Amino acid sequence: MAEPARVLELAGASVQVFENADHAALAAADRIAGAIRSAVARKGQAVIGLATGATPEAVYARLVSLHRAGGLSFAGVTTYNLDEYHPISPHDPRSYRAYMHRHLLAHVNIAADRAHVFDGTVPRDAAAEHAAQFGRWIAADGGIDLQVLGIGRNAHIGFNEPTDLPVPEALNLPCRPITLRPETRALYAVEFGGEDRVPRALTVGVAEILAAREILVLAFGETKADPVARSLLGPLTAECPGSLLRAAPGRVTWIIDEAASTSL
Ligand code: F6R
Repeated sequence: MAEPARVLELAGASVQVFENADHAALAAADRIAGAIRSAVARKGQAVIGLATGATPEAVYARLVSLHRAGGLSFAGVTTYNLDEYHPISPHDPRSYRAYMHRHLLAHVNIAADRAHVFDGTVPRDAAAEHAAQFGRWIAADGGIDLQVLGIGRNAHIGFNEPTDLPVPEALNLPCRPITLRPETRALYAVEFGGEDRVPRALTVGVAEILAAREILVLAFGETKADPVARSLLGPLTAECPGSLLRAAPGRVTWIIDEAASTSL
């Protein structure tokens, strides 16, 4: 069990700072495994919200090894992924469905119909209804027990991008289609062969994220020092979606490495 080098209390959240990203990933995986075991023991099911991206890769590797060692069953687990490109085929290796298959779903005993990722193939005029339906599925499953989040360099959570909406409206943003901001598209431009070719996306809303019983935010590396500091120390504003997590005091744990903590 990896122990944090230090723990800070900031903006209603517990911030655990680990010596490096490997230790942080181990701690995050242990925390997720613990949440799965306790929810399954309590109510027969654990509903876990998942993120993709570079940050959680080592976390998923650790969950897979816990499973292989016989220490973690996914039999009672339901997952909801935060986001997906749209349009995109699930067979496209850049899709988040393919990512989840590669890093977790293919390697554990989760029921195929309990692992939910937005359908990147729905027609454009059906995307809003599909996203809304995703939100209703989450609600019908009793909401999210543990939500895993990364944070964008622009402080987006899921694909809830910075916006100039007033805070009360931003806190209520639901599951919906979204156009990614230029700075986000720039990050994915190489993968998609140009900024203009990065698809739109579907995202779980700020409302569903904030309703989770527990929220785990992962941030590793120096490129995350600025969004981490703005989320925890800067103004509460929808221009910094990470700061909206302050609306869930006592339910948010940040698991970060030293490099991501340098501006705190
Ligand atoms: C991915 C997601 C995004 C990422 C964020 C950080 O499902 O919801 O918010 O968590 O863009 O991505 P990485 O980890 O690649 O730096």
